[in-house]
Formats: sequence, C-alpha cells, structure tokens
Amino acid sequence: MSDVLYEKRNHTGILTFNRPSSLNALCESFMKEIRDALEKAEKDPELRALILTGCGKSFIAGADIKEMYAKDADSIFAWSALGSELNMKIETMKLPVIAAINGYALGGGLELALACDIRIASENAKMGLPETSLGVICGAGGTQRLPRVIGESAAKELIYTARRIDAQEALRLGLVSRVVSAESLMEEALRLAESIGKNAPIAVRSAKEAIRFGRDASIEEGCLFEREAFRVLFETEDQKTGMGAFIRKEKNVVFRN
Ligand code: HXC
Repeated sequence: MSDVLYEKRNHTGILTFNRPSSLNALCESFMKEIRDALEKAEKDPELRALILTGCGKSFIAGADIKEMYAKDADSIFAWSALGSELNMKIETMKLPVIAAINGYALGGGLELALACDIRIASENAKMGLPETSLGVICGAGGTQRLPRVIGESAAKELIYTARRIDAQEALRLGLVSRVVSAESLMEEALRLAESIGKNAPIAVRSAKEAIRFGRDASIEEGCLFEREAFRVLFETEDQKTGMGAFIRKEKNVVFRN
C-alpha cells in the first residue's frame, strides 16, 4: 500500500500520510511520494481545496531521524532540499491547502503544516520543533515560517526550548485557527474546504497570492499587487457571476472552475 493515500470528495482532495510504523516520519522516498501526490492533485481541474492529514496518532512526527543520523553535512544539505522544496510547493500551490493536524506534528511535520494555508487541529494534537534537542535546527523552513505565523518572541521560545505544545496552546498562539474533537476533525476540515470551494476559485487563488506577496513586501508594494490582482479579476466571468447574482438577489451562486 502507498505511503500517501489520495481520495477525492466532491471538489476536495484529501492526502493522508500513511507510514504508521514510524509515525509518518519523513524519509526521502516518503517526501518524494508526497511531492508526487501534490503534483497529481494540482493537475486535477475539479479540485478547489486540498486537505493534508495523517493516519493513526500522528500527522508527521518529523523528519526520519534514523535516516538522517548517518548523513554528513554535504549529503544532508541535498536531502533537506527535498523537504524545503516540498514545503515551498505547498505554499505556492494554486489550491488552498488545509492541514488537519490529527496528532504529532513535530519538527519537519510542523514545518510542512506551517507551509499550509490553514491549520486546524484535533484536541489531542501535539506540536513542536524539537530540533535543538537533537543538536540541529529546522531544515525545511521552520525558523522562517514559525515567526511569521506566531511572531518572533513566541517562535524563539518554542524553537530554543524545543517544547512540545498541545492544541489549546497552539490555538492561543495562533498556530492553528481552530481545535476540534478528534472524531470531528475530518468533518470540520471538509466543511472548511467546501466553504472555500464554493467561492470563485480564481479569486481564492488570487487572495492566496496577494497574501503571500504581502508577507515580504512593503505596504505600498503589497497594496499595489492587490489592486492589480483586483483589476485582473474584473476580466473574469466569475466577477460577473458573483456580482450579478447579488444584484439579481440570487442565492446559491455556482462558479465554474
Ligand atoms: C524516525 C520515528 C520518528 C522520527 C517516531 N519514530 N518518530 N522514526 N524518525 N522522527 C518511530 C520510533 O522510532 C518508533 O519506531 C515508532 O516510530 C513509534 O514511535 P515511539 O517513539 O515508540 O512512539 P511514542 O512513544 O508514542 O512517542 C511518539 C513521539 C516520539 C513523541 C512522536 O516518537 C518522538 O519523539 N519522535 C521523534 C520526534 C522528533 O524529534 N521529530 C523531529 C525530528 S528532526 P520503532 O522502530 O522503535 O518502533 C526534524 C528535522 C526536520 O524533523 C528537517 C527537515 C529537512
């Protein structure tokens, strides 16, 4: 059986990490499989959102320590590029990506979740960046994305102490946007994906691009980028569909892909 399961519910794709013997630790072949699954999802014209989740008690328990242990500086540099590129792929995908964190999201697992657009967690989820306790630091964007998500001070605390936090603390820190029961995690993730999916796909994609652009731009550059994207959306059929439906007082607008 594959280490990454792919299923589709209406307009939502679901990738389930399925390497339970190591709590979904990221070894080289597994990272490649996730990358291939993302590429497959990206090519599906029917999809409007993607959910990433893990099987069993783990989302991803980090990079595979057993595989990393024997590597030297040169080989780990190439190896970690796989993780970095995977996370960059998630961050720049046209589809909105939801991490449904079902259990451990540690090290490289949290780094991957940080590259997703939205994170929701089950009440039993545990998150952290334990790398400094292993004698290293994050290698796939964790030192860069965590401060951007929760702020520098809180990120430094978590990274320097290697402390593991629970879902409620993650919620307080803004690391996840909601916490739900373990039983309802997928239902909630699907509901969220569907509520995104009913909106105009090009507009959602455009919002994703504008938010990402603005993260590293001045307010002036960001607003200009946004205004240009706003202009371009007026060349789409979706703008006529969405605004026309409001004027005609129609409910249940259906946007085409
Ligand atoms: C390799 C791992 C693993 C990992 C778990 N396993 N995490 N193998 N790499 N990251 C394996 C265990 O060795 C064990 O295999 C099996 O999964 C079950 O794990 P247990 O430890 O027995 O389970 P439990 O007692 O429930 O503890 C769960 C846990 C613990 C708290 C998540 O496994 C743990 O601390 N794992 C390591 C977490 C971590 O440090 N992650 C960061 C890695 S560094 P066996 O064969 O013994 O049954 C990193 C850098 C990123 O991510 C760089 C990106 C490029």
